[in-house]
Amino acid sequence: MAETLPGKFIVLDGPEGAGKTTQVERLVRWLRENGRQATAVRDPGSTPVSERIRDVLLDKRLPDMDARTEVFLYMASRAEMVARVIRPALGVGLVVVSDRFVSSTAAYQGSAGGIDPAVIWDLGRIACGGIEPDLTIILDLPVEDGFARLVREHDRIESKQRAYHEKVREGFLAMARARPDRFVVIDDRRSPDEVTQAVQEAVARVLR
Ligand code: TMP
Repeated sequence: MAETLPGKFIVLDGPEGAGKTTQVERLVRWLRENGRQATAVRDPGSTPVSERIRDVLLDKRLPDMDARTEVFLYMASRAEMVARVIRPALGVGLVVVSDRFVSSTAAYQGSAGGIDPAVIWDLGRIACGGIEPDLTIILDLPVEDGFARLVREHDRIESKQRAYHEKVREGFLAMARARPDRFVVIDDRRSPDEVTQAVQEAVARVLR
């Protein structure tokens, strides 16, 4: 993180269906088994205010939201989560593992939604007050493979067109290429256990 706090901040991100939620759970369990205090959050969400904003963002009865409105709602939800949960946890030395973060806004509302990703990164710095991930792991897989894994009904963002999600994936890969010091891409077409292993190796390098 840009601000020096004793904890470590790890983000798992990627296109739809990338198995992030399972990998976040496994990572937190592994960290605890190895003697680290760790906690998981999901973005948007993880505080009462952030979960309410999440409900608005993912509500299919509101299909026509402007991309700028989406950006500010995701950032507002995130500002609250950083202030209430992430910063205090990092302050007492925890490893915080987040399911998505600013990287998602840069990929979805930026690369796919048409807003300049540079502006989104700037807004992210304001919303997060200097807190930045030490490592962002992108679980990458082709769009059709991701959607084949989504068995439940699609939410508002998932219901956007295929071309949108192709741009989301490209956005994630482009930001990882631009910041190899802070991003790692893991091929999510492998078995969940192989992905878990690769995630652990990447995180171990940051915790050393
Ligand atoms: P989830 O699938 O990880 O629960 O994320 C919820 C949806 O919100 C997912 O379709 C991706 C989307 N999203 C954005 O469009 N921008 C963002 O900044 C974030 C965090 C999520």
